[in-house]
Amino acid sequence: MFAKLLITGGCGFIGTNFVRHVRRSRPHTHVVNVDVLSYSGNADNLADLRDDPRYTFVHADICDAERMRALMTGVHAVVHLAAESHVDRSILDTRPFIRTNVLGTQTLLDAAVAARVRRFVHVSTDEVYGSLSLDRPELRFHEDSPIRPNSPYAASKAASDMLVRAAHHTFGLDACITRCSNNFGPYQFPEKVIPLFVTNLLEGKQVPLYGDGLNVRDWIHVEDHCEAILAVLERGKAGAVYNIGADNERSNLELTRTLLHILGKGDEFIRHVEDRLGHDRRYAIDSSKIARELDWRATRSAWPDALFSTVNWYVKNTDWWRRIKSGAYREFHDKLYENRPVATPVRANA
Ligand SMILES: NC(=O)c1ccc[n+]([C@@H]2O[C@H](COP(=O)([O-])OP(=O)(O)OC[C@H]3O[C@@H](n4cnc5c(N)ncnc54)[C@H](O)[C@@H]3O)[C@@H](O)[C@H]2O)c1
Repeated sequence: MFAKLLITGGCGFIGTNFVRHVRRSRPHTHVVNVDVLSYSGNADNLADLRDDPRYTFVHADICDAERMRALMTGVHAVVHLAAESHVDRSILDTRPFIRTNVLGTQTLLDAAVAARVRRFVHVSTDEVYGSLSLDRPELRFHEDSPIRPNSPYAASKAASDMLVRAAHHTFGLDACITRCSNNFGPYQFPEKVIPLFVTNLLEGKQVPLYGDGLNVRDWIHVEDHCEAILAVLERGKAGAVYNIGADNERSNLELTRTLLHILGKGDEFIRHVEDRLGHDRRYAIDSSKIARELDWRATRSAWPDALFSTVNWYVKNTDWWRRIKSGAYREFHDKLYENRPVATPVRANA
């Protein structure tokens, strides 16, 4: 394991879980968490680590080249999670995505090359591969699938993947790229579908389901993703890409009905709203490479038990999400979902 690990975006959803995971499973590693605390970053998530001598929080922007160069001194490895991460926001305004996901990643790569960091793990997404058809269930994304991003978010992540590839090829940076499917678990900002729907239902509100609800996502528990990132950090091959998934494809409608069932609500709580622009139809991940080469497999994503325990976390931590939902987030939520036209659900096959 690396003695000093710099994690970017450690106050976001996956970052919070990953920082905790590393502190638990690698007690001798010093974690430096660099986060700008954007709308989705929450320093309170890790407040209990404040007095931990092997944890340091640095409030900084990954686009700040001078700060990143200074911070990288003495760092052995980097796990880069910081990003603008919400597709709907990228449709409203692309610029923050280009700034953080593209320029921010390049800034970190430059600093890592200069400091001769021993390993750089770039946490990317399956969305860079674009969309699969519902008619061809046998198809899955593998590491050599064409890069065909469809949303501005996915395009900015694809661009960052290419920059990581170039830093490895041109400057010899020991870098790996991970591409994971949709995560669920504790501490997810309630703009993403699972915490949005769970917290709406807990507030007695309807849930806004896009289009016909047949879009398919491949769900993985965040703890499985954290295990996989750690495996790549410690055992991944320099320059390699690893897909991460749990073979758990569910349509949004199926997911919604399971959440309704867990919380004892009926279909009258579903409000079909106009579809997201350019909405990808299906994601499905082939993660046989990471299983074969790094002996990693998802063990904590069993459906619906893992979903049930996630719902339970939001039931038990109402203060956490109520604080978020009562703030500036409200305005964004209403703009995107409350004022969205209602859609008549239509059956579609592709
Ligand atoms: N959530 C998923 O399902 C999923 C799936 C695959 C890959 N990913 C990738 O994992 C990473 C983390 O995703 P997440 O869901 O935890 O996102 P998130 O939005 O919850 O967290 C992002 C974090 O990055 C920080 N950040 C944003 N801009 C920054 C900047 N300029 N400088 C420093 N920090 C900044 C934010 O404050 C926040 O703490 C992203 O790179 C995302 O593309 C996410």
